[in-house]
Amino acid sequence: MSRLDRCYNIADLRLQALKHLPKGVFQYIDRGAEDEVALADNRQVFRDLKLRTRFMVDLTDRDMGIDLLGKRSNLPMAIAPTGIAGLAWYQGELALAKAAAAKGIPFTLATGSITSMETIAREAGGRLWFQLYMWKEEDLSYQLVARARDAGFEALIVTIDGALGNNREYNKRNGFSIPFSISARSVTDMATHPRWLLGVMGRYLMTTGMPRHENYPAKYAHRITSGAGGGSPMRHHAMTWKDIQKMRQFWPGKLIIKGILRKEDAVRAVECGADAVVVSNHGGRALDAAAPTLDILPEVVDAVGGKTTIFLDSGIRRGSDMVKALALGANAVLTGRATLYGIGTAGQAGAEKALSIIKTEFEKTMAYVGCRRVSELSHDVFSPNSLKQLLG
Ligand SMILES: Cc1cc2nc3c(=O)[nH]c(=O)nc-3n(C[C@H](O)[C@H](O)[C@H](O)COP(=O)(O)O)c2cc1C
Repeated sequence: MSRLDRCYNIADLRLQALKHLPKGVFQYIDRGAEDEVALADNRQVFRDLKLRTRFMVDLTDRDMGIDLLGKRSNLPMAIAPTGIAGLAWYQGELALAKAAAAKGIPFTLATGSITSMETIAREAGGRLWFQLYMWKEEDLSYQLVARARDAGFEALIVTIDGALGNNREYNKRNGFSIPFSISARSVTDMATHPRWLLGVMGRYLMTTGMPRHENYPAKYAHRITSGAGGGSPMRHHAMTWKDIQKMRQFWPGKLIIKGILRKEDAVRAVECGADAVVVSNHGGRALDAAAPTLDILPEVVDAVGGKTTIFLDSGIRRGSDMVKALALGANAVLTGRATLYGIGTAGQAGAEKALSIIKTEFEKTMAYVGCRRVSELSHDVFSPNSLKQLLG
């Protein structure tokens, strides 16, 4: 029985990833900001929301796919942008993109990723989106977006909740912040994970050298161990909706605004010409006192539902979580950690396993609530009490 055969859910994949990745890399993926309250709350709100079953429905003709931003997606899901996924597996971003293509859902490449957007465009197949953190030097953002356009990326996600940085204390303790600092602790951490040392870091060192931020503008595309990369030049504190309007003029494809936690921001995004918004608290990795996304989703749906595509992320670990988000009015969800645990365990095959697990759970939950298609989901699937608690 292989490692993957022993994984029956996302929590199992997480445990496998914990075993194989250096502690610094695993915690960078797994943990949240400060006291990890937002991380826990994201899950708790999903747990508290209960479903009512509906049986005696003919389930022979079912389809879990949707039209997502003009094209079919086999599931109402896309892979979220996750910086340096390439440290969880050799060319981890490519592994994620190929898994997404194999499962018929879009993949988002993060600004902070290690594999270049041109490599992804050439080798991955499938639907490709690019995520941008705006740079302080405005022309650098436009250089990156022009690269993504020329490489054929279909959609641009502009993340608006990253400009202030974050406070992830455990990363600092592990020496695992960007730039990555080589210390006695991190060397021991890597040395005690030989599969990762040889299979990930060793492969980079023997081929392209120390991993670099390949999608940063040329003057910042340093090695991950270099002091000059990313960080503050990428944190555009002065960013406003005017920047989004301007980006809208420039970017020819679909535009998605990620990091929405209030209806006014969703409305502004739509007014600026966005095709979609992502209700997100960055998976509990940004503001630790942030509201869980499921709490905020109903006001966003009230404000812009039907006018734009609404994604939700932060805390999706089960197919039933997807059912709950969609029944509250999201059009689709993004997954961050679930597929990262997959690549941390077994690369592309691991990410495909994560997606298969969630898909099977989603189909089963949909059947339990008597829905054959995503369009059949509504508030009707919730237990009235738990819905009342959420909506107040
Ligand atoms: C390791 C890691 C790196 C991330 N990097 C980025 C990033 O570069 N840009 C971004 O917009 N979001 C980033 N995110 C946030 C995800 O896009 C997404 O919002 C979050 O992971 C969703 O929550 P989940 O992990 O519970 O599914 C990252 C998340 C993780 C776990």
